[in-house]
Amino acid sequence: MIAGQDDTENKPLHIAVIMDGNGRWAKKRGLPRTAGHQAGFRVARAIVEAVGKRGHDALTLFAFSSENWNRPNAEVSLLLDLFMRALQSEVDRLVKNNVHMSFIGERSAFPEKLREQMRIAEQKTERNDGLKLAIAVNYGGRWDIVNAARSIARRVQKGEITADQIDIGSFAEGLSLADRGEPDVLIRTGGEQRISNYLLWQLAYTEFFFSQVLWPDFDELELDRAIESFNNRQRRFGRTGEQVTGLDDA
Ligand code: IPE
Ligand code: IPE
Ligand code: MG
Repeated sequence: MIAGQDDTENKPLHIAVIMDGNGRWAKKRGLPRTAGHQAGFRVARAIVEAVGKRGHDALTLFAFSSENWNRPNAEVSLLLDLFMRALQSEVDRLVKNNVHMSFIGERSAFPEKLREQMRIAEQKTERNDGLKLAIAVNYGGRWDIVNAARSIARRVQKGEITADQIDIGSFAEGLSLADRGEPDVLIRTGGEQRISNYLLWQLAYTEFFFSQVLWPDFDELELDRAIESFNNRQRRFGRTGEQVTGLDDA
């Protein structure tokens, strides 16, 4: 931990996670990839609960990327199926645990029944003021930015603002997660060190933590490691280290 900072002051408010490694976890055990996704779902449930209990403000989980449609049809169908069943079985527990759940990503690609479950889950949890849980499904960071560009273009078209008035703040209003702070820490499990088109804009100043642990093996101990690592970082946002610690008179 850095001198002068205590861990409460440094607790990440918003944690983003790329839950990767389900397939490899299953393969190592001679199981079908789908068994990895099932195990991964159980871990996601446990982590949502742990993060809620620890009092973080927001958790954003990458469940299905816009590129994951490129997987074999059988795996994609199973993932959508699992997602549907998870929504049905988990919503009441989320309501009880005061979790506010929402989805980010392009929904139009999903079957109407699934979209309806998503709406139901959002409506049932909308009055909850505990953990803000966002699940990224059919999500891509580039899609998100294009979508924001479309919203601001519409505002210009309607004459609400001029093109010259577009700035970072007004543009960002059209992005996913605009109603919460940007992720403080990004955890990617499974050992890959890449973003895979996750929150490209929102991760501009996020601290990254790459874990070798495959997602179905992720647990609170590994979460602790990520948070401890975060607590040992100095976030400078372009300033000097001395400015941040207040040890210089500049
Ligand atoms: C992440 O695990 C879950 C999804 C992308 C849906 P993977 O299925 O990518 O697992 P690996 O990377 O093949 O091990
Ligand atoms: C990223 O994992 C997406 C999710 C975890 C949902 P991938 O396994 O799809 O990423 P790549 O293909 O290895 O970059
Ligand atoms: Mg993967």
